[in-house]
Amino acid sequence: MDKVLVLDFGGQYDQLIARRVRELGVYSEIKAYSSISPEEIAACGYNAVIFTGGPNSVYLETSPHYDPSLLGMGIPVLGICYGDQLLCWMAGGTVESAGVSSEYGKTELVTDHPGGEAEALLAGVPDISTVWMSHTDHVGALPPGFVNLAHTSSCPSAAMGDPSRKLYGVQFHPEVTHTEYGKNILSNFLFRIAELKADWRMDDFIESSIEKYRRELKGKKVLLALSGGVDSSVCAALLSKAIGSDLTCVFVDHGLLRKDEGDLVEDTFKDRFGMNFIRINAEDRFLSKLKGVTEPEKKRKIIGEEFIRTFEDASDSIGQAEVLAQGTIYPDVIESGKGDSSVIKSHHNVGGLPSVMAFSDIAEPLRDLFKDEVRAVGEKLGLPKELVWRQPFPGPGLAVRVIGEITKEKLDTLREADAIFREELEKAGPEKSPSQYFAVLTDLRSVGVKGDARTYGYTVALRAVTTDDFMTAEWTRLPYEVLEKASLRITNEVNDITRVVYDITSKPPATVEWE
Ligand code: XMP
Repeated sequence: MDKVLVLDFGGQYDQLIARRVRELGVYSEIKAYSSISPEEIAACGYNAVIFTGGPNSVYLETSPHYDPSLLGMGIPVLGICYGDQLLCWMAGGTVESAGVSSEYGKTELVTDHPGGEAEALLAGVPDISTVWMSHTDHVGALPPGFVNLAHTSSCPSAAMGDPSRKLYGVQFHPEVTHTEYGKNILSNFLFRIAELKADWRMDDFIESSIEKYRRELKGKKVLLALSGGVDSSVCAALLSKAIGSDLTCVFVDHGLLRKDEGDLVEDTFKDRFGMNFIRINAEDRFLSKLKGVTEPEKKRKIIGEEFIRTFEDASDSIGQAEVLAQGTIYPDVIESGKGDSSVIKSHHNVGGLPSVMAFSDIAEPLRDLFKDEVRAVGEKLGLPKELVWRQPFPGPGLAVRVIGEITKEKLDTLREADAIFREELEKAGPEKSPSQYFAVLTDLRSVGVKGDARTYGYTVALRAVTTDDFMTAEWTRLPYEVLEKASLRITNEVNDITRVVYDITSKPPATVEWE
């Protein structure tokens, strides 16, 4: 299988670049520039390299630089933004400060048609098109062997190439959707220039993973703590195809799930995948531990600890397993140390497993996949759409969406309101779906009037956010009609709710969840 290395110089869009390459059917990986030498790039069998952008200027000593010997190894290179400037500088050209002509945002790209093979990079791109720029430096004098392929009104070299060494650079970002012909340009680099094969397909991934885990886990007992989220569900479905009843999935239903969620998880996995599926209904024990608790961090702590205790108590029926399976995905691997496999995000342990459960090994079949690829695998394995396209849901569940003290009655009220809001939003169509949307039951009661009678019920807050990474998020401008319908139905259909408000706070300063 051909593979592309995305060499990270500190850019914001590394993951997007790698995803775009994979969307074009070529497997790609991201590595920090400092973590791999040119010799290792060749030894690992990478067929092409893409230099990412980055916030630096190549002339600063502290800026990330790379060994120029890479350029003479016959491996095609595409530099993007800082990567373009770095490539120019490594190959013997100059980089200048753009000064007042720095460009940010949409810019008009004009192709230069120098003739010859180098034009392959911009094949199919019209003479004038829109690209997305964000830079303060740009390429000055081209390095020997390079020709100029395009410019903008303030950037004399917006694309350059040396076809004999297959080295190319673009000052703009082809990976973002604002660049009209970005996908063509990446495709030209991968297929016309680097002559790669588009052989990265989810079907092949599924088949080879099943084979691999069948071989590696033969005769071993494997435990997976299934939360019902996308990653652990897809992990369960995939491993069950490989090892069947040697896989035990334990699903702790803490009573803090959304409407019908526990049953959806059980219906999906019980009897369908040939694994051992254990559902532990632990609502009572979680709610009794949470009784009277109002402080958000205390709620989280109690829930995390109770997960462990629940597992311990159930350990007899679970039985001893040698291998722990986890739904770690590629962004987790990158974020926890650029490929350092020993660091695992705590939330993948679903609140942590007891230390008395010793595992000799960890299986993470999804650790090379992006989220959209995980969803594609889930669909191909036959998981229901509601599970595969689930929005993120916090481990502590509705406990952090019932403000103040948690009771079963309040949870039921919230579950109904939340289900109505999600249903109305989903009716508006998937293209309108925000990244995350839910209801919060505030601790505030207010006066209302229903059928000529005074009411005094809870205020529910609706929240919808749009974000790429959940580190920052914008409140979503939902259509008024959706909000109106949700508000009408919630106040009519859910007892004890007299008022509905919409949260118009972004993150920061607020967080996505209310607690
Ligand atoms: P915040 O509220 O921190 O949420 O802006 C960002 C994203 O993380 C989710 N979230 C959690 N996920 N355990 C989780 O597994 C948690 O304790 C937790 N708290 C927040 C939240 O739903 C959002 O997607």
